[in-house]
Amino acid sequence: MQSQHKRPRVQDPEAHRMRRRATLRSLGGALALAGHNYAASSPAMHSSDVRQPAAPSLAQAAAQPERTDPGPAAAMTMHTRPIPSSSQALPVVGLGTYVGFDVEPGTAAYRELPGVLKALFDAGGSVIDSSPMYGRAETTIGELLEESREPDGAFVATKVWTSSRERGIEQMTQSMQRLKAKPIDLMQIHNLVDWRAHLLTLKEWKELGRIRYLGVSHYTPSAYPQLEAVMREHTLDFVQLNYSIDEREAEARLLPLAADLGIAVIANRPFGGGGLLRRHGQRPLPAWASELGCSSWAQVLLKFVLGHPAVTCVIPGTGKARHMLDNVAAGSGPLPDLAMRERMAAEWL
Ligand SMILES: NC(=O)c1ccc[n+]([C@@H]2O[C@H](COP(=O)([O-])OP(=O)(O)OC[C@H]3O[C@@H](n4cnc5c(N)ncnc54)[C@H](OP(=O)(O)O)[C@@H]3O)[C@@H](O)[C@H]2O)c1
Repeated sequence: MQSQHKRPRVQDPEAHRMRRRATLRSLGGALALAGHNYAASSPAMHSSDVRQPAAPSLAQAAAQPERTDPGPAAAMTMHTRPIPSSSQALPVVGLGTYVGFDVEPGTAAYRELPGVLKALFDAGGSVIDSSPMYGRAETTIGELLEESREPDGAFVATKVWTSSRERGIEQMTQSMQRLKAKPIDLMQIHNLVDWRAHLLTLKEWKELGRIRYLGVSHYTPSAYPQLEAVMREHTLDFVQLNYSIDEREAEARLLPLAADLGIAVIANRPFGGGGLLRRHGQRPLPAWASELGCSSWAQVLLKFVLGHPAVTCVIPGTGKARHMLDNVAAGSGPLPDLAMRERMAAEWL
């Protein structure tokens, strides 16, 4: 027997927007939900807005201490961008749960996780991305959302990751039970595994209201030709792909294509799986970081991703509340324009 979702799930996009407005009002934040155009909800930094830093080189910049607070941007309301197929406004920074949420109850790592969700929701975020591939993560999310004080605040995305129509249906049914989510907001075909079989099911399930949106996901440029073919041949609400300051291959074809076709983009692996921060995160921040409202390298990397107008949402993975606080701060304040993004990439290398 399928467990019913104890949270009231919102199927109508307009009702969902209204509910999020009310939630954010109750948090006392200024609203950024008005309007569905990119410019209205996500102010990009125009070249005229970018003052030339007096001390642009990394070597000249002051050393940054170990961060304990997310900086000034954290107090601001998170930007949203519209899901093209519905116009529902989606907060731009979400949460990835690979590794971080694959933890057992009773452990210190598990006790950390309510703080991760609180940081996400308090900042106006909502997107939580998971998969049956991520061990216990779906079950953990379901448990914690049930206990959460913001039960209606989540946009729950998961995936189907198996072969055959029958096993896919079985797995997605299990995901609904684990996540205690009915409907699931977004169901994605993980790494395009047996995508022809699952896409038929997802279309049926969307009709039946078991899922609200459907999409596909991948994590490597070698799969982009196949992703592109699926995007062109089928009506998708979302595509999820890897995009970061040193993995920019999606800019060539997939991001413009998604914008042309009206497909929302979720950017995964914004920190290259964590390696970018491990390798470079101890360097001093350049002077221009503060002009973007960034007080950490994590925020710089996330703002680089969000600076691409085709990206709807970025989902940094974490199991640490202080990292979630850090990451959500990238969802507010100025975003880099094209010129600034090129400069960021040049200085990163
Ligand atoms: N094929 C697919 O569908 C696919 C593939 C890959 C990823 N994804 C999704 O995308 C999400 C993101 O990708 P990812 O988790 O692989 O990689 P990622 O987001 O690039 O990096 C995650 C790593 O960064 C660390 N981190 C996060 N915030 C930090 C901060 N503010 N400061 C320092 N370190 C920080 C995390 O460690 P802590 O836990 O210690 O914070 C973790 O080790 C996944 O969780 C998953 O939901 C989907």
